[in-house]
Amino acid sequence: MKSYRKLPTCVTRAPGPYCEEEEEEEEEGRDPGFPALKKTPTLRRQWLGVVVVVGAVLLGGTFWAISLRRLPGEPPGRCSSVPQSQRFDCYPERDAVVTPELCHLRGCCFLQSGSRGGPPWCFYPPDFPSYTLQSLNRTELGFLGVLTRTVKTYYPRDVLELQLQVDLETDTRLHIKLADPHHSRYEVPLEVPPATKKAENPLYSLDFSRDPFGILVKRRGSGVVLLNTTVAPLIFADQFLQISTLLPSAFLYGLGEHRRGFLHRLDWTTLSFWARDVPPTEAFNLYGVHPFYLNMEEAGSAHGVFLLNSNAMGFPTMPPLWGLGFHLCRWGYGSSNQTWETVKNMRNYLIPQDAQWNDIDYMEGSRDFTVDPEHFGTLPQLVMDLHKHGQYYVLIVDPAISSSQPAGTYAPYDEGLKKGIFINNTNGQPLIGQVWPGLTAFPDFSNPETHQWWLENLNVFHAKVPFDGLWIDMNEPSNFQDGSVDGCTSGELDNPPYKPAVLGGSLFAKTICASAKQRLSSHYNLHNLYGLMEAKATASALIAIRGKRPFVISRSTFPSQGRYSGHWLGDNRSEWKDMYWSIPGLLNFNLFGIPLVGADICGFSGSTTEELCTRWMQLGAFYPFARNHNAKDVQAQDPTVFSPPARTAMKGALMTRYALLPYLYTLFHHAHRRGDTVARPLFFEFPQDTNTYALDRQFLWGRSLLVTPVLEPGEDAVIGYFPRGVWYDYYTGSSLQSQGEEVKLAAPLNHINVHIREGAVLPTQKPDITSWMSSGNPLLLVAALSQEGTAWGDLFWDDGESLDTFERGNYSYVVFNVSQNIFTSTVLHCSLEAIYITVDGLTVYGVQKQPQVVTVNGQEIPFSYLDNQVLSMSGLHLNLSRSFSVRWR
Ligand code: GLC
Repeated sequence: MKSYRKLPTCVTRAPGPYCEEEEEEEEEGRDPGFPALKKTPTLRRQWLGVVVVVGAVLLGGTFWAISLRRLPGEPPGRCSSVPQSQRFDCYPERDAVVTPELCHLRGCCFLQSGSRGGPPWCFYPPDFPSYTLQSLNRTELGFLGVLTRTVKTYYPRDVLELQLQVDLETDTRLHIKLADPHHSRYEVPLEVPPATKKAENPLYSLDFSRDPFGILVKRRGSGVVLLNTTVAPLIFADQFLQISTLLPSAFLYGLGEHRRGFLHRLDWTTLSFWARDVPPTEAFNLYGVHPFYLNMEEAGSAHGVFLLNSNAMGFPTMPPLWGLGFHLCRWGYGSSNQTWETVKNMRNYLIPQDAQWNDIDYMEGSRDFTVDPEHFGTLPQLVMDLHKHGQYYVLIVDPAISSSQPAGTYAPYDEGLKKGIFINNTNGQPLIGQVWPGLTAFPDFSNPETHQWWLENLNVFHAKVPFDGLWIDMNEPSNFQDGSVDGCTSGELDNPPYKPAVLGGSLFAKTICASAKQRLSSHYNLHNLYGLMEAKATASALIAIRGKRPFVISRSTFPSQGRYSGHWLGDNRSEWKDMYWSIPGLLNFNLFGIPLVGADICGFSGSTTEELCTRWMQLGAFYPFARNHNAKDVQAQDPTVFSPPARTAMKGALMTRYALLPYLYTLFHHAHRRGDTVARPLFFEFPQDTNTYALDRQFLWGRSLLVTPVLEPGEDAVIGYFPRGVWYDYYTGSSLQSQGEEVKLAAPLNHINVHIREGAVLPTQKPDITSWMSSGNPLLLVAALSQEGTAWGDLFWDDGESLDTFERGNYSYVVFNVSQNIFTSTVLHCSLEAIYITVDGLTVYGVQKQPQVVTVNGQEIPFSYLDNQVLSMSGLHLNLSRSFSVRWR
């Protein structure tokens, strides 16, 4: 697919340099110019996706167990001959103490081996009854089969006949769906990309096993088995689905939201998926649900498996530029004046800040759409002042609506009741729980009328407090009363026959009853979609109200959420290990298609220390979404409260971020346009280098900027891994040549290590204290030469906030190339904004010989050359909208 079309020259005012007619086209999936570098295959090019839709019911419908084992080979025989490593758990209920009797009742083998938490004691014998493939017919896109089972399983309501649909959707995507052909059931209400033509040259091949039924998916080139569902019985009962496979390698990533290292450990781990409000805790289900895994194979290839669909819902949204600036928040400013003081202090110290936030303390009695008149009376003036300074205002809204105000005094509830937009209990009355404002009802975002009601309330409130972005919290949904104030039913929705190993031991722990009724289906089915549906309503309300790109940050998430919101990693603690955990979190959410992600910088609960907060501000300056947020009743932790050296270090890190905003913004454009990651694990760029597979203490921005933070106290150095090649210190241009090795780097408290990969051109900009101010400043281009003397980079540029600028063609796109001592800037697409931007500087790292002459568009210009092979030119006064070349010899 080609995208950048040939477009006419921009019409501009004289005099001055203008956009030129573009000639080149950018090929989808290939960065033009980059092949001049050594051909290291990146992960994206080797990608193979398998989409498994298990039944019409998934995630919130029927609980499924997907068992993943890492071991090749055939299971040899009954019970004792089944090797421990191939024992698939026949008793996955976490809390149950399995006895031989209970196990045999299920028709399974019982063998006690090792301690609990190791290999399962109760496991499937190889001859455990499963489905038989009765027929298999070719279809336009693949195959349609019928599966039957004659022996029931131990879970109620087995579906004895299943329809198997296998679609070869693209050469890299296979879609498998299992469904009950006789009864229509709840289906995840998300759009999936339609396929119209069968893949012509798929990278995968398929084998079917008849009895027991199974599918084997292999990579064609290598023969590696990517999916083998014959290894344990398929189960498809009303409230329990099980599908199993063996993994070709132990390099497994994804499966969120959980607090774990980026690379999973496969030691008999159970991961549960049920949106849950809890400060991130290892081993438990968290705020969002992302049933997707990525598995590295041999020789740097990879495949992914997504339960449901892979590109289900398109690419992430393009955030406004200000969304990539620095955000400051805390719970417990206590007043609008205090909030304002903080903003003024930030300005006085010239510390970059794009957005000020308020938490629930702005509200009256924690009720949505109200302002505490006593303490937040000056809020509208504060927001006006922010806007005057090119800054933005974001506030929190929680979904739960106070239900205990006297009738006629709180319109959001009264109107909501009238419109019937709340979630009901099984008696048909609004289900009442308890959140910050006390007793509350819960809006049903699966109902389109709720979206209208939400918009109306936000609109009325916006007329009082003209907020720019919204923070949607507590949307698992969180409920301080398990289920409701009246508890839950004793039925099978609230107490399913298979209870997943969720925190709190029940589906309604700290949330509403699964039996609650929503417009589209039961809460049982829709629970994990609550945050997604609220995010969708919120983003479209913001568009309707402001007419600009929406900015929404959500706690609970589900696949496709990147289209509507970003995410923060929830209630972390002000501890060193929490700072580390944020990196696997960033990487995971980039894998899940939500690139706008960050953790609460300096930690949410507990009081931070100056050293921790300094290090965290440095790391946080490289979160795609950078917000310092703090809990109530703990010490302030915004940059202005620390000593001058700490404050200066924090400011320095933010200045670096702001300088890099053009690069970061361009990465978001690529995420929006083709699903790229922004914060990227190293192995995505170096899939042949297995040393990178477990790295989650460093990460890249895009393909070329490596961040190596200090994550431990008391350190003034940090050890980072550098894949083979030349890496340039971002700040000085000094190079280090790595053979693929660990390198110890100096890291005094005022410094975060950032390196540019050889062969990259990064667009940077003179930083300022808001993105609005920065975005008018001159650009400085940094080219980091490969060993062959080449480099490539690009820049996406638009007005930073209008809707669909790419889709409507209102943007500029410029490509930078270096080869044979010539730097060229080529304007491939142009819009008016670019005309007002000058390119003032070009710095080239890795120029091995001192040049005698440097010319710009043929005219000689002054330059400087340093011993560390850095060539710099300044005062160029070139116009971004015009192609140009710089030559040195
Ligand atoms: C939740 C949020 C936290 C917020 C608090 C008060 O705990 O995760 O960020 O500060 O509620 O609204």
